[in-house]
Amino acid sequence: MPDKENCVIVCRCEEITLGQIREWIDRGCDTVDEIKRASRAGMGPCQGRGCRDIIMREISKRLGIPLDQVDAGSVRPPVKPVKIGLLAGDE
Ligand code: FES
Repeated sequence: MPDKENCVIVCRCEEITLGQIREWIDRGCDTVDEIKRASRAGMGPCQGRGCRDIIMREISKRLGIPLDQVDAGSVRPPVKPVKIGLLAGDE
């Protein structure tokens, strides 16, 4: 069932499927940042919290390199609304 597997959503924020991730890896993207720039996977509101590990595992599996040698890329904090009073120090 490889076709069904390719339809699985890996990045829920940007609606990127496993098939799309595999396609970018096959085109030469071998880091999370390269896949992020090519597909927007990892650029959603959670900033890759929901998909980074899956993408890293797929890079590892597809390219046959150990998971700990896969470049995890740059990590940014998730996008969350912050009340202005919190920034201003008002209680
Ligand atoms: S699940 Fe990929 S950025 Fe949120």
